Amino acid sequence: MSGPQALRCRIGSLELDSPLLTGSGTFGHDGLVTRFLQPGDLGALVIKTVTPAPRGGNPPPRLVETPAGLLNSIGLENRGVDAFIAETVPLLRELSKPPRAIPVVANAGGESVDEYVHMVRSLDRTEAFAAIEVNLSCPNVQGGALPFATSAEAVARVIEACRSCTERPLWAKLSPNVARLGPIAQAAERAGADALTVANTLLGLVVDWRRRRPVLGAGFGGLSGPAIRPVAMRMVWEARQAVDLPIVASGGAATAEDVMEFVTAGASAVQIGTAGFQRPDLISRIAADLRALLKQEGTDLESQCGSLQWPSPAASGKV
Ligand code: SIN
Repeated sequence: MSGPQALRCRIGSLELDSPLLTGSGTFGHDGLVTRFLQPGDLGALVIKTVTPAPRGGNPPPRLVETPAGLLNSIGLENRGVDAFIAETVPLLRELSKPPRAIPVVANAGGESVDEYVHMVRSLDRTEAFAAIEVNLSCPNVQGGALPFATSAEAVARVIEACRSCTERPLWAKLSPNVARLGPIAQAAERAGADALTVANTLLGLVVDWRRRRPVLGAGFGGLSGPAIRPVAMRMVWEARQAVDLPIVASGGAATAEDVMEFVTAGASAVQIGTAGFQRPDLISRIAADLRALLKQEGTDLESQCGSLQWPSPAASGKV
């Protein structure tokens, strides 16, 4: 397929114009996307995590740059779901209606199963969202407690409870901070997730050795950007082997070549986050390059998805 249809893709029942999504919370809550991105280039706008109660976020500094990466410790700052529904949802509804018609994916956070359920119920009722991404993996909250996504049982409990509150596509946003993703991905699939977002930021630490203090106000932070792309790639491949669910890749993609790598490893769509901070028009640039690449190589997203061929033991030298 070529021309304007070349980037069309599916994430389960959701059909999108493009496999390029924003990473949760990296493009604001308003209509800014329409100032920077061409129609048809953005598959969906993924909103910053919203929680039941307002959160002030973590103490500053909250960001520090690293070689090829960014360490953040925002702490899920947001005004809470009531303010979100009253003030932000009307803007998002405009965005999702023609002529803009940009699908919007909500992102739900919580500190307990009940809080996640409250969020998914509230977001579902607004009828403004094409899907709900459940953030099980923020590394910057709960005073350093492990996120839900580090335990298959916890993931299953949250997704199962949320599943019963919505018929909208439910995406489980998993964590890269685990030894093996497969069992956790399978738990999400069994509990009724429609797709997996693989993954979130890698837990990290930058030290100001002169002051003998962490640079970030909360100590640890989550690493994003090109530095984590090979880790995210490995996890997309691991998830692809473990489940049949569609996978939304998230972790360091910045070019059309990166997107094709993720698609080949098994992703149906790719979120662009940190790289977009440098160039807010990046998604449109990637979309143009992606159309050209697909044409040049005579391939399409569907046949490329998950087509990675693993080397045999002989090919890896272990004869
Ligand atoms: C944050 O708000 O701390 C980052 C969001 C996340 O990692 O899920």
